[in-house]
Amino acid sequence: MKASPDASASLGQLRVQFEAWLELKMKNLQGVSNELHAAMSYGLLDGGKRLRASLMFATGKALGLNPEVLFDAACAIEAIHAYSLVHDDLPSMDNDVLRRGKPTCHVKYGEAMALLAGDALQTTAFQWLAESTLLPPLVRLEQVRILAQASGAQGMANGQAIDLAHVGKSMSVDELTHMHARKTGDLIAASVRLAYCAKEGLVDTKANLEQFAKALGLAYQVIDDILDVEASSEVLGKTSGKDAMSNKPTMVSLMGLQKAKDLLNTLEQQALQACEHFDEESRSHLVLLTEWITKRKS
Ligand code: IPE
Ligand code: IPE
Ligand code: MG
Ligand code: MG
Ligand code: MG
Repeated sequence: MKASPDASASLGQLRVQFEAWLELKMKNLQGVSNELHAAMSYGLLDGGKRLRASLMFATGKALGLNPEVLFDAACAIEAIHAYSLVHDDLPSMDNDVLRRGKPTCHVKYGEAMALLAGDALQTTAFQWLAESTLLPPLVRLEQVRILAQASGAQGMANGQAIDLAHVGKSMSVDELTHMHARKTGDLIAASVRLAYCAKEGLVDTKANLEQFAKALGLAYQVIDDILDVEASSEVLGKTSGKDAMSNKPTMVSLMGLQKAKDLLNTLEQQALQACEHFDEESRSHLVLLTEWITKRKS
């Protein structure tokens, strides 16, 4: 399966529209003290591949939804993701100084403000979902549930807790797979779920999208582990070699670079297979994103 140039142009255009929408959402967030607003904007705007938003639009496209009805939910997931990065970089977590090619939020605004910016990005995400008029209330209630489950105690925060508890310790491949699925996979899968929950009556398609989401979600952290070893800080926009430096168990440390790449390849094939029941035009954006993720260099 090959991604089409049309899909690439249309996703690129959507990304530009979405970016403007997100900037406006931040601008309209009134009554926030200057420094908190600046730290939140610093973490959320001006950078980031917007993979999670793009995946929502790609799923919407496969299902025949107008991507614009997903814009508020896409803002919400990008805000959650940005919060997770701001906190992930804190000295008490990964202690990183570089993110998206810039000093990390706590380096720029101080640790306390970065903590608060992360907190505020998280709650603002749910406010944006609750306030949205783009989708019916029951769909947005389900989106709140999906996003909370993927980001909180059962999802990303859980994965981060497992990650920190295993610094310098060994793990089995199954245990690491579980950790990766929680800390990264759940939010990636939520991008797909946040889109398909806006479409009624899906049964087989939903099962296929679930398979797609899970394979791609795990692939996302596997390639992140690979790039940490193979790419430079300049290209990544974040400190490379950080996992080995911090003694973190990763797919590369556990199985070696080649086996990690083989796993990535298998996950890519699984994701592509799960899209096969869509016709070529409908699945074009999902195919493009799968290739983008598994072949990404940064
Ligand atoms: C980095 O995510 C952290 C992981 C969950 C692997 P991204 O690589 O999507 O970060 P941005 O948003 O593009 O900066
Ligand atoms: C982060 O995993 C996952 C998050 C929930 C933010 P990493 O710690 O590997 O992410 P990077 O490499 O710092 O972006
Ligand atoms: Mg981390
Ligand atoms: Mg990190
Ligand atoms: Mg990493």
